[in-house]
Amino acid sequence: MTDSVLLTVQQGVLHLTLNRPDKKNALTGAMYQALTDALNEAAKDDSVRVVVLSGSGSDFSAGNDIHDFVAAINDPQKVRIPLGFLQCISTFPKPIVAAVSGVAIGIGTSMLLHCDLVYADASARFQLPFTRMGLVPEGGTSLLLPSSLGHRKAFELLVLGEVFGAEQAVETGLVNQCVEQGSVIDFAMDKALALAAMGAEAVQQSKAMLKQHDDNRLQSVLVSEVDAFAARLNSNEARAAFMAFMQKPKK
Ligand code: COA
Repeated sequence: MTDSVLLTVQQGVLHLTLNRPDKKNALTGAMYQALTDALNEAAKDDSVRVVVLSGSGSDFSAGNDIHDFVAAINDPQKVRIPLGFLQCISTFPKPIVAAVSGVAIGIGTSMLLHCDLVYADASARFQLPFTRMGLVPEGGTSLLLPSSLGHRKAFELLVLGEVFGAEQAVETGLVNQCVEQGSVIDFAMDKALALAAMGAEAVQQSKAMLKQHDDNRLQSVLVSEVDAFAARLNSNEARAAFMAFMQKPKK
């Protein structure tokens, strides 16, 4: 178990904290594995009724660790590690509540589409910069965003890939509510505790009913997106973007 994902349990709520604040909680292979293991355990554990997901420090997550993208150029199996996490979070049977402050970039935003309630504060900055990185959409975004937002809004978010704030995230339906800065984890925890106090069977059955229509298609899109993404990693466009990030002067 890595200490870059923290686990605490309180009154039926498992709180998973992405804990790599010096790197803005950029996700490594070990972190995806820790999240996947924790969710698999939580799915089987009747004492866990709800999961809360947040980041430590001032950010949610700056997305996949870019050094891992570079490593995956020579070892394409590495790009499949996030797929295991995405398959797990997208089929997790119990409610997941996310609390977002600071940056939520790439998979830091796309994983939110698999959460059931998402709260953010005014510091939140979302971005799906895949195309800007020479890459293509992942995390189910190429299916879920056009089907919920229509082609043009999805194109704006996924291809233009500009940063957007909590208010726009609420308008697009990515976030349920923008709350006072500094209170987002407590707010998410209150909602999680309310869900945990409800009948677990009714809650889980309702979640399954809400998701049943798109699940088969989503699972096949998650895999085809990763195939396309893996192929793009070795492109000149992606290599140039990774190089630009890695050569950025240190603060
Ligand atoms: N992978 C690896 N390291 C990352 C990272 C990522 N995705 N995002 C941030 N970091 C690291 C930085 O390298 C830096 O490390 P250092 O202190 O050792 O130099 C540290 O986190 C802080 O980031 P920094 O870039 O200095 O902060 P900033 O406030 O200037 O910019 C971001 C913040 C999030 C805008 C910028 O870090 C960024 O663009 N990150 C990449 C996001 C991304 O493209 N993710 C993948 C999408 S497909």
